[in-house]
Amino acid sequence: MEKPKILIVFYSMNGNTAKLAKALAEGAKNANAKIRLRQVQELIPEDKFNDVMKKTKEDLKDIPIASNDDLVWADGIAFGTPTRFGNVSAQLKQFIDQTGGLWMKGALINKVATVFTSVSTQHGGHETTIFTSWAPLIHHGMIIIGVPYSEQRLMSMELGGGGPYGASSVSSPNANIDPTKNDLEIAKVQGKRLAEVARKMM
Ligand SMILES: Cc1cc2nc3c(=O)[nH]c(=O)nc-3n(C[C@H](O)[C@H](O)[C@H](O)COP(=O)(O)O)c2cc1C
Repeated sequence: MEKPKILIVFYSMNGNTAKLAKALAEGAKNANAKIRLRQVQELIPEDKFNDVMKKTKEDLKDIPIASNDDLVWADGIAFGTPTRFGNVSAQLKQFIDQTGGLWMKGALINKVATVFTSVSTQHGGHETTIFTSWAPLIHHGMIIIGVPYSEQRLMSMELGGGGPYGASSVSSPNANIDPTKNDLEIAKVQGKRLAEVARKMM
């Protein structure tokens, strides 16, 4: 059986969204998909990086920068972004805003898409970020999926992220609390589902 091609493309300043991205990649890989893990271009000048950002950049240095070719290559695409004022980060949006040519050609129509995020506070906008990220994907004609409630961890009463809209994590105001085990498992389920639905669309 042909393997679905799954692109996981993300921005991460402090490393939390990157950890979710790797969990999604693992979930998709376990579902027998071909994986491309990519980050988007940084927009913050290097001389403004703090120590945490410098460490994140070092940790992620082997992950290539995403291109439009990666989007065209993929059958299914997961977009990851930290929450910025309840919205998508400028860095991921900048990447999406460079896809006008693909839009005009209808190159992303019927590709499967899903979104994940990281926030610092429990009610800081997981859902709004994921929702607002969906708008350009709909314009592209992509088929958006989340995580169904068959995933029992969505019922968890523990502090953490992850909902029917997609995986998320709550990193604290210092952005230094890692995604929980539940958050990572939900991200794996999201990656697996992305691969499975993309396979059906091939
Ligand atoms: C400019 C800015 C705006 C932010 N806005 C929000 C917000 O609206 N809600 C929230 O919970 N966290 C907000 N955060 C915090 C990040 O979303 C949070 O630290 C996230 O876990 C970072 O993900 P990363 O580790 O992948 O960079 C904001 C951070 C910055 C720098």
